[in-house]
Amino acid sequence: MMKTAAIIGGGVIGGGWAARFLLNGWDVRVFDPDPEAQRKIGEVLDNARRSLPGLSDVPLPPEGALTFHDDMADAVQGAIWIQESVPERLDLKLKVYKGLQAACDPQAIIGSSTSGFKPSELQDGALCPEQIVVTHPFNPVYLLPLIELVPTEANPPELVERAKEMLSSVGFFPLHVRKEIDAHIADRFLEAVWREALWLVKDGIATTEEIDEAIRMGFGIRWAQMGLFETYRVAGGEAGMQHFMAQFGPALQWPWTKLMDVPEFTDELVAMIADQSDAQSGMHSIRELERIRDNNLVGMMRALKAQDYGAGAVLNRHDARLKPGALPTLDGADLCQPILTLSRAVPLDWTDYNGHMTESRYLDAFASSTDRFMEIIGCDADYIASGGSYFTAETHIRHLDETHAGSKIEVQTQLLLGQGKKLHLFHSMYEGDKLLATGESFLLHVSLETRRPCAPSAQIEAAMARIAQGQAGLPYPEGAGSAIRKPA
Ligand SMILES: NC(=O)c1ccc[n+]([C@@H]2O[C@H](COP(=O)([O-])OP(=O)(O)OC[C@H]3O[C@@H](n4cnc5c(N)ncnc54)[C@H](O)[C@@H]3O)[C@@H](O)[C@H]2O)c1
Repeated sequence: MMKTAAIIGGGVIGGGWAARFLLNGWDVRVFDPDPEAQRKIGEVLDNARRSLPGLSDVPLPPEGALTFHDDMADAVQGAIWIQESVPERLDLKLKVYKGLQAACDPQAIIGSSTSGFKPSELQDGALCPEQIVVTHPFNPVYLLPLIELVPTEANPPELVERAKEMLSSVGFFPLHVRKEIDAHIADRFLEAVWREALWLVKDGIATTEEIDEAIRMGFGIRWAQMGLFETYRVAGGEAGMQHFMAQFGPALQWPWTKLMDVPEFTDELVAMIADQSDAQSGMHSIRELERIRDNNLVGMMRALKAQDYGAGAVLNRHDARLKPGALPTLDGADLCQPILTLSRAVPLDWTDYNGHMTESRYLDAFASSTDRFMEIIGCDADYIASGGSYFTAETHIRHLDETHAGSKIEVQTQLLLGQGKKLHLFHSMYEGDKLLATGESFLLHVSLETRRPCAPSAQIEAAMARIAQGQAGLPYPEGAGSAIRKPA
């Protein structure tokens, strides 16, 4: 069944929510009185389309429909999730909930993006307090997984569970904040760091750029993968956390922080920070900086994915949810045609200085197709664990057209030979009807014990025979068996 989300307030944050839902297959209905809202959301969506689908190694569901509504009551029709992201003013938010709750499905969940307000403040005086929770996201909402989900006692546990499930289903990591507090959990850290940084600039200790270097060249990378406590545990060495605490505990008595003493926001301080920031980053437009940020985030998150750690583990869980049914099985495929063995968007970290998919990634894609073909014929993880596998002996790739970041690519695989220990495959990569590249691979079945070629299991032989028989009517592909010729 099609799921529908209503987005109330479509600025930086509302636009990110809209993109996250749409690209995960939900229909999205937007209400925002700003006549520019449609353009602004369109720009956020462009960036999201470029970066989000490629984070997955499987296809996202087909995009939902995006509609804009002049009337808030109309926008919430049919919505099971309503995300409020209007400006951070309590009176405005309360007024919006009054309007919303008069019109929406009483079963719908209303999440607020508020960075600072507690859910009890938002529920106060509402028609139906149990419907409202805080769901605090992080910019860019379409890439970063964290949502601080803050309920109160007024919210039934069933609703909190439903909220977690819906957030997870679009790839978020819902962090259940068990006790409400101003600014939730994450922004309290950011506030602490921000206060320290303002003093360092004001006192002339460091420039904005030096402060950013201190973060991104060191602990920022550490935090991105382990956070605070796990990082310190490692820092404690073999003696562990207790040793670490004992060693660094005394520092807490020293005047190392000015957290409660806040520098006055004089015109002079504001100008100093703005000037330093211009000198540091003024050569890039905001749109450029957003793209640089997204490229970096995608590269780091995909690296974490390979380690199945932190934000990367969340991405893997999302892929596992999407995977069933994404590609045909031996029994589900039309064996008279080439078999779909890869379907995905080209991730940002697969492109090169020419702006298109870099050479080595064609092999990456075709290798995934070969792996999938092996799975289809029964050479899956269990089979490999039992001691048999295929090793690639030869590959030939032809590049026929350009492929760009975010493009949805599909690979169709034809079996040219599957007999005994020999497996000869021909992969064709398409974007829509356009043939982008072909990859031909010759593999040998091996014993992982002797590392020598040997016959595969009878089950694999039978599966290969079934496919060979089905595909017998297909023409021998153009380009198969070709090589780079010596110039005449
Ligand atoms: N910017 C961030 O980094 C960030 C991060 C997390 C959470 N938040 C929270 O998200 C919320 C929105 O912040 P933002 O940065 O997107 O602000 P924004 O100013 O970019 O967007 C707010 C949008 O709400 C619209 N709006 C105003 N009144 C409205 C109404 N009555 N009904 C519907 N729409 C209305 C405005 O036209 C605007 O497009 C705030 O509560 C903020 O605390 C912001």
